[in-house]
Amino acid sequence: MAARPVEAIDVPHKEVTKICCIGAGYVELFIDLFGAVCGPTCAVIACKSPKVQVTIVDLNQARIDAWNSDNLPIYEPGLDEVVKSVRGKNLFFSTDVDKAIKEADLIFVSVNTPTKKTGVGKGYAADLGYVESATRHIAKVAESDKIVVEKSTVPCRTASSMRKILESNGKPGVRFDILSNPEFLAEGTAIKDLFAPDRVLIGSLDTTEGMAAAASLAHVYANWVPKERVITMRVWSSELSKLAANALLAQRISSINALSAICEATGADVDEVSYAVGLDSRIGPKFLKASVGFGGSCFQKDILNLVYLSESLHLPDVAAYWRQVVEMNESQKRRFTQRVISSLFNTLTGKRLAVFGFAFKKDTGDTRESAAITLIKYFRQEQAKIALYDPKVEEAQIWMDLAEPGVVDDVTALKKQVTITSSAYEAAKGADAIIICTEWDEFKDSNLDYEKIYADMNKPAFIFDGRLILNQKKLEKIGFKVECIGKSRLEETFQ
Ligand code: NAD
Ligand code: UGA
Repeated sequence: MAARPVEAIDVPHKEVTKICCIGAGYVELFIDLFGAVCGPTCAVIACKSPKVQVTIVDLNQARIDAWNSDNLPIYEPGLDEVVKSVRGKNLFFSTDVDKAIKEADLIFVSVNTPTKKTGVGKGYAADLGYVESATRHIAKVAESDKIVVEKSTVPCRTASSMRKILESNGKPGVRFDILSNPEFLAEGTAIKDLFAPDRVLIGSLDTTEGMAAAASLAHVYANWVPKERVITMRVWSSELSKLAANALLAQRISSINALSAICEATGADVDEVSYAVGLDSRIGPKFLKASVGFGGSCFQKDILNLVYLSESLHLPDVAAYWRQVVEMNESQKRRFTQRVISSLFNTLTGKRLAVFGFAFKKDTGDTRESAAITLIKYFRQEQAKIALYDPKVEEAQIWMDLAEPGVVDDVTALKKQVTITSSAYEAAKGADAIIICTEWDEFKDSNLDYEKIYADMNKPAFIFDGRLILNQKKLEKIGFKVECIGKSRLEETFQ
């Protein structure tokens, strides 16, 4: 069934004046949790809806202090300016969770939903423990009617569980309406995405009350999003649409990466192939950049979640289809590593590899599921020495990611093999090869002096461009042996 007509949002509804958001950092188990969605989303809502008071809550005083300081806990281009323009006016960061819940008409649940690490569904299913605990807390504290909005990415029908928890634990006479309002922002462009979203999706029950709740939220977004981009639909469709969007985006990357392997073997150029197919208006040019593999906190997690859902629904072929997207991604990292090894004369033992970039993509300090983590693990297994540079990722984060259980268990050995440097030049000094893992603009040949880098490297000096950001011809002229994802070496092309 198609989405309901947008006019459906124009039903009688209650105006939202106070919003509370749960998910800015509450659980102190991991130091890398920071509320990538909650902070930017609420800052933009507050900025564009001056009459709405938005409070982001967290029990951890240090974290709230960080959100209230000049040094925000997450790096996102444009976020500082937006936060500073509204903080203390209609955007507040507070540790008084109960007060914010009590006062709010609408509560966003924007907590993390990681892949389960143990128990039934381990490695596939979403861990809904954080969603449940936030929901139970709302039920316990709320003294008046609330619209509870599922902002986290969740499996289909989670809203039903939230509803049961709220209804069986809420105070008598308090009504809860549940909405699904998945977030589509991408890190690094979050503020831009939130200011001008392709669409805002609101899922509700198909009842008068459900539609009225959807209209209340739709009117908040209508403060800056054109009405026709605020779409409403049934809650299960909305939940599944979020998983579907991420699965389809990741599938495109795995598809172009699969083609990159064919390009390398045949002499075709993946950038040219991607350009040619992207001009077809039915295909389009976006998300066709071959790479060392997609990373980030969500693609893998959400596809695995879809795989689990398919298996639970006794749809093994559907599960296998989506699982292959993740398997292709893993294969791309192994294939890239193999290319590094064979190019460097079949041994990495004792060789210095300068790894450029550790974040999962440019313009973010986030490293969750970054391809660099896996690649460094493989290089270490080959006894290489790693010199690593990233312009934004904190040193402590890098050590934590590399020393994560299952990646490596001996931190002392890790520090003997890996050095973190403060510039790309320093990382490349004395190196046998440069490995571009993240597409930071800083690494482009227009921004770094590759002649100087070449002079300081061991010869033959290799560059492995895992992000296709370099001008292969220009660097080969300097003397580099350049190996790009989805391309053969220029000198070999006509052999
Ligand atoms: P995150 O890990 O950066 O932040 C989640 C925060 O929720 C953490 O700080 C955690 O401490 C906090 N939290 C957990 N339980 C809590 C509780 N009971 N009360 C209060 N706070 C609690 O996660 P994120 O990247 O912001 O993602 C949140 C959700 O949004 C996930 O479901 C994710 O799939 C989805 N999402 C993320 C992105 C993204 O770009 N990161 C984009 C769209 C959707
Ligand atoms: C992704 C989606 O783009 C968002 O719409 C979604 O809201 C979000 O996941 C989420 O649910 O968390 P994000 O992971 O922040 O956003 O970043 P993307 O720009 O999608 O990049 C993901 C990974 O794919 C990165 O490692 C990136 O380098 C890689 N990628 C992207 C490619 O390798 N090739 C491409 O053409 C595009």
